[in-house]
Amino acid sequence: MHHFAYKGGVLYAEGVSLGEIAGAVGTPFYCYSTATLKRHYTVFANAFAGSDALVCYSVKANSNLAVLKTLGAQGSGMDVVSEGELRRARAAGIAAERIVFSGVGKTRSEMAYALDEGIYAFNVESEAEAHALSDVAAAKGARARIAFRVNPDIDPKTHKKISTGKAEDKFGVPFDRARGLYKEASGLPGIKACGIHMHIGSQITDLQPFADALELLRALADQLHDDGHSLEFVNFGGGLGVPYRGDDDIPPHPDDYANAVRCALADLDCKLVFEPGRVIAGNAGVLVARVLYEKHGANRRFTVVDAGMNDLIRPTLYDAWHEIWPVDEKLRGAPATPTDVVGPVCETGDYLALERALPEFGEGDLIAVLTAGAYGAVQSSSYNTRPLVPEVLVNGDAWAVVRPRPTYDDMLALDRLPEWL
Ligand code: LLP
Repeated sequence: MHHFAYKGGVLYAEGVSLGEIAGAVGTPFYCYSTATLKRHYTVFANAFAGSDALVCYSVKANSNLAVLKTLGAQGSGMDVVSEGELRRARAAGIAAERIVFSGVGKTRSEMAYALDEGIYAFNVESEAEAHALSDVAAAKGARARIAFRVNPDIDPKTHKKISTGKAEDKFGVPFDRARGLYKEASGLPGIKACGIHMHIGSQITDLQPFADALELLRALADQLHDDGHSLEFVNFGGGLGVPYRGDDDIPPHPDDYANAVRCALADLDCKLVFEPGRVIAGNAGVLVARVLYEKHGANRRFTVVDAGMNDLIRPTLYDAWHEIWPVDEKLRGAPATPTDVVGPVCETGDYLALERALPEFGEGDLIAVLTAGAYGAVQSSSYNTRPLVPEVLVNGDAWAVVRPRPTYDDMLALDRLPEWL
């Protein structure tokens, strides 16, 4: 459910017309809905009401400070994967003890920064990382709270580039080596292994892989208990999918996901930590673009718009399907034919949709690419020296630019000419 709907023939974000924003900000731009962000956070958090749960929104999905602050005000903690994301979460006012730090390649200086901030826990992904973290913490006279990220070798049945829980994926430590690692960690002076972490992939639309992973998580927790370790928390990561394609790919509701978690972990006297990203931010954002030209190739129709793969790379990188709605409702009823919605970037892979049934557009018509709130703006670039796409946040009848479009002067000023030129 989201708050993008037609009113008086025009697509609105909550109480604001996307046409009005386009007129003021120019295109392309991302537009986020505060009501949708809050609703998704609340639905997820409420699914765990009554449990000792810490919901750490995964900052990588959408790291705009205004988005983080909106979610922080709802009580969200944060999952970060870099010092930059940690700095964003802290700048948005998130308490350090509600932040977890994931990622296979944390540097020693990132570890030191996170230790100084006093985060809740590190998700440690290898034996070597455990040793490095122990060194960094011990040198400060500190002890880092950690969970080993365990790779259960489970197929999450998602796109191969966003699967993280199979043995061939770079993430985590092998399940059958985990027990030994906890034993070894208890001898390291700078870490305290007090949790288990598992995150098997993203855009997961089937409960079974989650249930299979939870079973293994539970088995490991029991083994560690038998080995004399005391676990304070288990972190089951993120991964719950969102519906990109109307009724075709309905993912489990957070309540069903929560039931699966409860079934597996019910009597495990531990805090439950989650790292949802997409399910919070995905449906809360659209990318608005303007049609430049309709073009009829030898055997294909192309709708050329002013947003490209540099603004939204998901269709190119993950074969992702995003719904496309005309901002003018009249066009929705017009006769539709298959078209490739392409951008201005000089790459054959620069498209937002392929062979999509859409009406014939006129120059200047606006389109909205839906479910673009997660992994949209954060993965954008200025390839082809295109200005980084701006972001707008709507809240009821109010709206604000939360990341402006850089000027060409801003962009050129980032480069330096060496003295010999
Ligand atoms: N926790 C960890 C350790 C992760 O690696 C991720 C996502 C999450 C949580 C959040 O997962 P979510 O709830 O959003 O599924 N750019 C790709 C998705 C990459 C996901 C990477 N890790 C896409 O656009 O589909």
